[in-house]
Amino acid sequence: MKILLTYSSKTGNTKKVAEAIGEALQLRAVPVEEKPAVTGYDLVIAGYWVDRGTADAKMKDFLGKLTSQKVALFATLGAEANSEHATQCLENGAALLGEGCEVVGRFICQGKVADEMVDMMKNMFPAGHPHAMTPERLARIEKAATHPDAADLAAAREYFSRLCLDRQ
Ligand SMILES: Cc1cc2nc3c(=O)[nH]c(=O)nc-3n(C[C@H](O)[C@H](O)[C@H](O)COP(=O)(O)O)c2cc1C
Repeated sequence: MKILLTYSSKTGNTKKVAEAIGEALQLRAVPVEEKPAVTGYDLVIAGYWVDRGTADAKMKDFLGKLTSQKVALFATLGAEANSEHATQCLENGAALLGEGCEVVGRFICQGKVADEMVDMMKNMFPAGHPHAMTPERLARIEKAATHPDAADLAAAREYFSRLCLDRQ
């Protein structure tokens, strides 16, 4: 099976997950900035960090260029991995794929939100604003700060090992 494993990561969370998957599948995790070819694979495994509910701009661009490929998506985000928001963020990534692509796998886990982003949210949005810092939001951010952790990386390794075995 010819597999491309590519990812986009701003602060390193998605890179960690990509490298764990790479270790499990004995593949190099290719930063999307290297502009990997967009055709000719049996499977493309593509990972992104969630930026305002969808794939970050670099991965958005790459996903839109894929056509008629089988794709497994993975992502990291600040919210809980089992939240509706997380499901929607994967759905939104899938919607970016070019014509004829088929999503054959999805994996998502939490990732530490960059300190600058937390400070910005604290300073930028007044109380009552939908993005204002609330105790609940702060608690979620604090919970995300230890992720991706060893359990997330193990889950990613297992998920993608199984997916690739099943597809052989
Ligand atoms: C500009 C910006 C927008 C973000 N938007 C979201 C979002 O919509 N939902 C969410 O759960 N997390 C959001 N996050 C958190 C990141 O998705 C999360 O910290 C991710 O793990 C970062 O991955 P990276 O280290 O690979 O860059 C955002 C972070 C930044 C900096």
